[in-house]
Amino acid sequence: MITFKNDEMYVERVKMSDVAAKFGTPTYVYSLRRIEENLRIISSVFDELDFHLNYAMKANANIHLLRILKENGCGVDAASYGEILLARYSGFPPEEIVLNGVGKEDEELRFALNNNVYAVNCDSVEELEYLDAMAKSENKRVRIALRVNPDIDAKTHPHITTGLKENKFGIDLETAREVIERYRNSSSIDIVGLHTHIGSQITSVEPYVETFRQIKEFMEAVGKRFEFYNIGGGWGIDYKNGKRIFDTKEYKEKAIPILKDMNIKIVGEFGRFVVGDSGLLLTRVVYNKHTPYRNFVIVDAGMSHLIRPVLYNAYHRIIPVKRTKEGTHFVADIVGPLCESGDFLGKERKLTDLKRGDLIAIMDVGAYGYVMSSNYNGKFRGAEVLVDGDKVSLIRRRETIDDLLATQKI
Ligand code: LLP
Repeated sequence: MITFKNDEMYVERVKMSDVAAKFGTPTYVYSLRRIEENLRIISSVFDELDFHLNYAMKANANIHLLRILKENGCGVDAASYGEILLARYSGFPPEEIVLNGVGKEDEELRFALNNNVYAVNCDSVEELEYLDAMAKSENKRVRIALRVNPDIDAKTHPHITTGLKENKFGIDLETAREVIERYRNSSSIDIVGLHTHIGSQITSVEPYVETFRQIKEFMEAVGKRFEFYNIGGGWGIDYKNGKRIFDTKEYKEKAIPILKDMNIKIVGEFGRFVVGDSGLLLTRVVYNKHTPYRNFVIVDAGMSHLIRPVLYNAYHRIIPVKRTKEGTHFVADIVGPLCESGDFLGKERKLTDLKRGDLIAIMDVGAYGYVMSSNYNGKFRGAEVLVDGDKVSLIRRRETIDDLLATQKI
C-alpha cells in the first residue's frame, strides 16, 4: 500500500510527512484504494456463487469506512448494541445487519425482534431458548442462523481460534441437530441459516475445506433446506512481508466447489482481509535511547494505540517514513511511552539512524488497531485519516482532555 518517491513514503499520492505535519502523530492512515482492491478480490473468489459480504465491523468501525463499505454493497456483522447503532448511523438498514456474540444482551435481541435483521447468529441453546421466550411474549418471529462449532483447528494464535470444541463459541453439531428438529415448526424461531467462524488470521485453506465438508454433510443429514450458510471471516494478511498470503487461488479450487455443491446463498463476514493492510500508524520518534544492554527507539504511539504486539505477540512491519541509504545500522526495540514493559511495537528490528522527530510507520493496522485502542496512561487516542488519490481527509480527530472527562461526573 506504500510507495517511495525521492526516498519519501507515500500512501497513494499522499506524502506521509505531510500528513504528520498537518494532523500530528500518532495518526492512523487508511488507503481507500487498498480497501476497494481487497473487496474486489473477495468478489472475484465468490463470483460463481450467490454471495453477500457482511463486513465484520469489529475490525474497524469508523463510520466513514462503514459508509464506503455500504456504497460497495456490503452489509455488516455487528458484535454489540454499540456496533448496531454505529451501523444504523452509517446508513445500514436492519436487513443488512447480522448480530454476533456469545453473550447478546436484551437491547441487542430486542433490536433483532423489532427490526427485520438479516439474522441473529445464535451461539448457544441457552440463547435460543431465551430469545424464543422473548419472541413469544412479544408475538414476534426472528430469523436465526445457528452458529455451529465444527471442532476444527484453524492453526492460528490460540486467542483467536474459535472453532475448537473447547472454545466458548457455537453449538456442537449433535446438539445443533436436535435444536433444528425442536424448532422445525416454531412460530417464533425461524432457523434460516447455519454459521461457522473458526478463527481469525487464518493463512491456510485447509481448515476452511474441512469445515465446509462437515457443514455440507451436516446439511444433508438434517435434511432441512436453509436459506444461507454464513462462512464467517478469518482470511489472514501478510504481516511479515506485506504480500498477499492467503491463497485465494487454492481457496477457489478447493473450498468454493464444496460451497457450490450446497446450492444455497453464501454469506461472508470478513473483517481483517477487507481493511487490515489498508492502514498504517504514523508515529514520531521521541528518543533514541541507548543502554549498555539494548537500544530502544521510543515513539509517541504505544500499546494504547496498538495492543496487538503485546496481546498476541503479533509482528507488524516498522518502516521509516524517510528512507536513508547511509548511516549506522543498529538493532533496537521500538517501544511506546507507557509505563510497562509490555508496551512495545516491535522487538529487535534492524534500523538505520533514527533521531528525535523522525517519523516511522507501523504497518497493517487497519484492522484491530484503533478499535482496540485505549486511554491507558491517560493517552489520547490518535486521529484517523483517509487517503483517496491525492486527497487526504480527517475522518476522526485526535482525542483531547474533553474526551477523558466526557463520561466522568464533574
Ligand atoms: N465473524 C465473527 C463471528 C467474528 O468473531 C470475527 C472476528 C469475524 C467474523 C471477523 O474475522 P476476521 O475476518 O477479521 O478474521 N483482535 C484480534 C482478532 C479477533 C477477531 C475476532 N472475531 C486481532 O487483532 O488479531
